[in-house]
Amino acid sequence: MRIGFNYTLGDTAPLVRRLLDSGRIDYVELLIDNFLSVPPEEMAQGFGAPVGFHIMFSKFIENDDAALDSMAIRLRRLIDLLKPLYVSDHIARFNHEGRQLYHLAEIDYITDYEQVRCRVDWWQQKLGCRLHLENYPSIMDGGRDAPHFHERLHRDTGAGVLFDVSNAVCAHLNCGLPLEAWEGIIERSSHFHVAGYNLSILAPHLVVDTHDRMLSEETLGFLERYRARFNTAGSTMTYERDDNFVETEIEHDLDRLRDLFDRSSVEAFDAPRV
Ligand SMILES: [Fe+2]
Repeated sequence: MRIGFNYTLGDTAPLVRRLLDSGRIDYVELLIDNFLSVPPEEMAQGFGAPVGFHIMFSKFIENDDAALDSMAIRLRRLIDLLKPLYVSDHIARFNHEGRQLYHLAEIDYITDYEQVRCRVDWWQQKLGCRLHLENYPSIMDGGRDAPHFHERLHRDTGAGVLFDVSNAVCAHLNCGLPLEAWEGIIERSSHFHVAGYNLSILAPHLVVDTHDRMLSEETLGFLERYRARFNTAGSTMTYERDDNFVETEIEHDLDRLRDLFDRSSVEAFDAPRV
């Protein structure tokens, strides 16, 4: 298992370098939208480590084709040059009836399926690569349809899932979706996210994917139970942190992840062959 850390903003570059130098991480996940105007050759020098590409604001389901064409040209150049471990994007709504939303919103997994399927096909062709689409930290009951939606989308388009472990825990706590419902997805996935979450400020309190604190016991328990399934050849686990950069906490969580997956490698190695 390769362990990585997300890089979103310039301020955290020294932290990312320290995590690479100490061997706590093996690669860096770039929120690639923020770097589209950086010359590709400069990007290639970057951290001197493998990278993953996380696309945040393509809005590929609802954006107009001309804007996406232009973004795809820049992304393809970076994909060709940097050869990322994976390219990921989000299935979400960014607008509602012409108004831009403050937070991205979850789709309706049943009624929106056909539209999303067509757009995923189209966006993958434009980028010239397979996309890994992240599962949403569901709030509403409709989130219970997410695992089936992702399985169907994989079957119809070949798109993978960037499986966010703690988003699945958020969905479990908010709308009761059992963690076991993701087993088929975990089995087929190679690229994962994990982060801390918190309760919303306003009541009724929802569990919100805040990326600002340590991993919860619930998330660590989920990782522990499925550690052998997460830890397959070529798999990656990105620890996401976007606020409250307490270095000792981050190091502690990364060490726990390393320990957990090192243990599962040993177990896999020791397993009797039948
Ligand atoms: Fe994530």
